[in-house]
Amino acid sequence: MSGKPKLVTCGLPYTNGLCHIGHLRTYVPADCYVRYLRRAGEDVLFVCGSDNHGTPIVVSAEGAGTTPRAFSEKYHTHFKETFEKMGVIFDHFGMTDDPTNHARTQSIVKRLIDRGYVYAEVINQSYCTTCKRSLPDRYVEGTCPHCGKHARGDECDQGCGRHLEPGEILEPTCTVCQTKAETRQQEHYFFKLSTFKEYLLDYLKDLNGTINAKNYAIGWIENELHDWCITRTMDWGVRFPGNEDLVVYVWVDAPIGYISFTEEWANAHGDDWRRFWCGDGEVTHFIGSDIIYHHCIFWPALLHAAGYGTPDAVVASGMLKVEDQKFSKSRGYVVWANEDYLDVNLPADYLRYYLLSYTSHTKELNFSWKAYQERVNNELVNTLGNFMYRSIYFAEEKLGGIPATPPKEEIFDEIRRTRDLVDPAFRAFEFKSGVDAIMGLATFGNNYIQKNAPWKLLKTDKAAAEGVIADCLQIVKALALFLEPVMPEKASLCWKMLGYETPLASHHLDEADTPLEGVTLRKAAPLFEKIDDEQYAVLEATFTRRVDEAKKKQERHEVKKEMLTIDEFGKMELCVGRVLEAEAIKGSKKLLRITVDIGSEKRQVVSGIAPYYKPEELEGTLVVMVTNLEPATIFGVESRGMILAAGDEAALLIPNREVEPGTRIR
Ligand code: MF3
Ligand code: ZN
Repeated sequence: MSGKPKLVTCGLPYTNGLCHIGHLRTYVPADCYVRYLRRAGEDVLFVCGSDNHGTPIVVSAEGAGTTPRAFSEKYHTHFKETFEKMGVIFDHFGMTDDPTNHARTQSIVKRLIDRGYVYAEVINQSYCTTCKRSLPDRYVEGTCPHCGKHARGDECDQGCGRHLEPGEILEPTCTVCQTKAETRQQEHYFFKLSTFKEYLLDYLKDLNGTINAKNYAIGWIENELHDWCITRTMDWGVRFPGNEDLVVYVWVDAPIGYISFTEEWANAHGDDWRRFWCGDGEVTHFIGSDIIYHHCIFWPALLHAAGYGTPDAVVASGMLKVEDQKFSKSRGYVVWANEDYLDVNLPADYLRYYLLSYTSHTKELNFSWKAYQERVNNELVNTLGNFMYRSIYFAEEKLGGIPATPPKEEIFDEIRRTRDLVDPAFRAFEFKSGVDAIMGLATFGNNYIQKNAPWKLLKTDKAAAEGVIADCLQIVKALALFLEPVMPEKASLCWKMLGYETPLASHHLDEADTPLEGVTLRKAAPLFEKIDDEQYAVLEATFTRRVDEAKKKQERHEVKKEMLTIDEFGKMELCVGRVLEAEAIKGSKKLLRITVDIGSEKRQVVSGIAPYYKPEELEGTLVVMVTNLEPATIFGVESRGMILAAGDEAALLIPNREVEPGTRIR
């Protein structure tokens, strides 16, 4: 344990989507970590906020017919409220679009410029002539220059996963209006990230947190390290100091939000944010593994270049599956925090327990309603809840309160042994091992009360029964303290039942092995409730429906993708023509060379209708032609157009009355 001030943060959620299990998979462990450190007596600040800038939010706000600010505020409130309901309690939850962050970002960028870490360069940038604007990031889609897969302007999301710099994407089209983008030249600003290679390799050697973050980052740096374009051509964002027509890239002002939010908190509490960012404070970032690059490479280089302290630890959560399939909002493999969970009155603590104890923090976590039901019923209800309830109930109901007998030394040993397992686990971000150790103590307690059967002892040896119950209550007390970081609400309820008037969160872990004194038990009530099969069936059905709907939506989308737009159809030039002459092509049984009068000119086409028509019977007939097909050479004869015919025997399409050759078909 270090006496240094600690700051813990979570990756900032973008304000253009609802809170889901993917967020919670990172936020709940971060909250658990903070609560644990606090129970262990440490000075910890926990800040987060919403990420308001960037192109996707502008696009979404435009789609919703509102401003990016109003749009962001709505989602900002949503996240703040949802996190609170999940027991994820930040000391401050800010917005990257608030004035503090604008000011802090500009001050940091100015520093980078003054120190010579920023240079200007003219780059090719996509421009939409229909929308009349530059197309940064997600305003543009096209082909990844590295792997050839379909990609977004700033990221090859369906292929190699690489970050794409402005102008890199091939065959760009505007995502708003689908117009093929033009390329225009514009001056942008770059951060000299590549000069920090040695610095970063050195920095990463000592980076704490989870090993995945550190290893990925080292691998990437050893391969290639490009400078970063840190400006964008749009209005929404933090103005770039030095060129008011540009804003900084969202990945500059978003992480700076971590500092600004610390600042906002400090200003409101008469504290100094520099303790954390410019002194000996330790900063720990909890993030999803998709943003390791930004947090382990870009961000520390930026902080170092600007003369700030760098993060001490980056904790990256592993992958997420829902019902055995890779997490995907669009495919329906998702659990929405409100709609699917909180709104149907499932306790936040059950999900917290699941997320914290399913697997190691860096491994793949699979959420399934079946596993959820089983774990709640077996572990929380049958083992933990049962033990807590029976102990308090028996003491209160049969013994009239907490027995005066001091708990046995072996019980204290068991509690201390548990703490010795929990402490290093939680500090090393091994939440599962920590929870397992706590549940090990619950199992010990459950077996202990079962084996010693105080309800039987009471009839023969009341003192012995009291001894057993005193032991059990001591374990319950320890469990409440240990479990506060994991299931704060349930642990607090248990704490109250033990008779404490002061909030559990104001107590220290050291009290786990001090006797229960000065409190009077309250009436026992079950803390956990089973998820019955009927409820499970409803949860499962909701999920299945969502996946089915997503599939249908996807299918509709695909059908739509194959449809022609009216503009596309309009590109085809169809007109009426009159056959002037037709003759067989030597060496081919199927092909005729046909000359057609299309008004403005005579066209030669090659047509595969020889089996059905004699050349002379065609001469003089009206036909329907596509005139703007790319020319092709067939059997050595040039063909410039196509005569339309229906079916296997090539019934010719013929106008039902005389029209002039060259008449357009519409
Ligand atoms: N909004 C980003 C995302 O969801 C995370 C930003 S984290 C910060 O991927 F570091 F930029 F703050
Ligand atoms: Zn456009």
